[in-house]
Amino acid sequence: MRTRPLKVALLGCGVVGSEVARIMTTHADDLAARIGAPVELAGVAVRRPSKVREGIDPALITTDATALVKRGDIDVVIEVIGGIEPARTLITSAFEHGASVVSANKALLAEDGTALHAAAEEHGRDLYYEAAVAGAIPLVRPLRESLAGDKVNRVLGIVNGTTNFILDKMDTSGAGYSEALDEATALGYAEADPTADVEGFDAAAKAAILAGIAFHTRVKIGEVHREGITEVTAADIASARRMGCTVKLLAICERAADGQSVTARVHPAMIPLSHPLASVREAYNAVFVEAEAAGQLMFYGPGAGGSPTASAVLGDLVAVCRNKLNGATGPGESAYTRLPVSPMGEVVTRYHISLDVADKPGVLAQVATVFAEQGVSIDTVRQQGRQDASGEASLVVVTHRAPDSALSATVEALRKLDTVRGVASIMRVEGE
Ligand code: NDP
Ligand code: HSE
Repeated sequence: MRTRPLKVALLGCGVVGSEVARIMTTHADDLAARIGAPVELAGVAVRRPSKVREGIDPALITTDATALVKRGDIDVVIEVIGGIEPARTLITSAFEHGASVVSANKALLAEDGTALHAAAEEHGRDLYYEAAVAGAIPLVRPLRESLAGDKVNRVLGIVNGTTNFILDKMDTSGAGYSEALDEATALGYAEADPTADVEGFDAAAKAAILAGIAFHTRVKIGEVHREGITEVTAADIASARRMGCTVKLLAICERAADGQSVTARVHPAMIPLSHPLASVREAYNAVFVEAEAAGQLMFYGPGAGGSPTASAVLGDLVAVCRNKLNGATGPGESAYTRLPVSPMGEVVTRYHISLDVADKPGVLAQVATVFAEQGVSIDTVRQQGRQDASGEASLVVVTHRAPDSALSATVEALRKLDTVRGVASIMRVEGE
């Protein structure tokens, strides 16, 4: 074993970074044996230098991340700051100054992954990011390496721990939305700005990364259709229960049947309680990968939190250090298919639509006619009078599979009917 240590710079020492530092220290001997050389923490960049950081030599702490990555003797930079800048500049500078990079930064990879991969390749360095998608769950490496000989057609799953935690609490314990979000934040699951979680940006970034790797193409976060969970109500969850379903925020990446395009979307959806994703609780994530030869694979585990995410970061650290000692680099970006990303309107799925309607003769026929005119076939209808003075009823329509564009046209036409007082909610139904 080489005795001269490989030097690691840690950028960020928050929820994830502090766990990375802890495991690097407590598992130092095992890591050295697995890598073939010791790894040494050479510097830790943070924003607030006076904060007490247990187990970290205060002499390693710096606020000058730029100088740390430019030192020239750093072998690996671990970026767990998050956000676009200064993370992007620091990673690029790390490549220029001799270091490979391990990052957990899905926002940056989804925004600018192609340029970062190009910079890594130009300088002969590695860029690894297992922790960027689904926390501890090995997913990036299985897609990049284990399934490199297969053809992946679909990736579907729960990839955001915070929103799964919130929906799970709302469903099972009747907790309020804000209360559940506060708990997820306190547990270290949420992003620095939890809007990224609840509005679906975090899951959309992960969907962009997964679609790119799975289909050997490039998908930018702006090409991912995104809806968060802020509009999901207790009534939606209760309605899902009545249908034998639950509500989950799903990321779905699909190759078109003709193989000529892909779609990527993130939105809340009802799934049957019998579906394996329905039993994914708290901040756990689960992802199905459907590949031509392998069939259906399921990946499941903790999707957020300091320790699980640090596990993925450390796995990458070992891989990158091994490559460095062997004078090699791991796989870079594979985007040769250059498949276009189709708009959401072309996605075909089922819908659950909840309407407030006038409770009088002929309304059901009017509503059914609108669906028929747009070519959207109805599967089930449930009407319930309000039993109050409003003269209104709740009408819940579940459709057969239809293009999203046809559904949008249907809803637009429904809103114009005098007898439709409001569209209470529209939710897709998946997993059947
Ligand atoms: P935190 O907010 O807990 O930690 C961020 C760290 O970066 C802090 O130590 C902060 O310093 C430091 N920092 C911020 N800005 C700068 C700067 N300009 N220069 C130097 N240091 C800076 O975030 P997390 O640990 O939760 O997340 C880090 C990354 O990991 C993000 O990309 C996130 O998306 C990703 N991730 C997080 C997961 C999680 O469950 N939390 C799971 C998977 C990925 P200080 O301590 O002084 O404030
Ligand atoms: N905020 C993210 C989540 C962290 O809740 O899933 C893990 O990527």
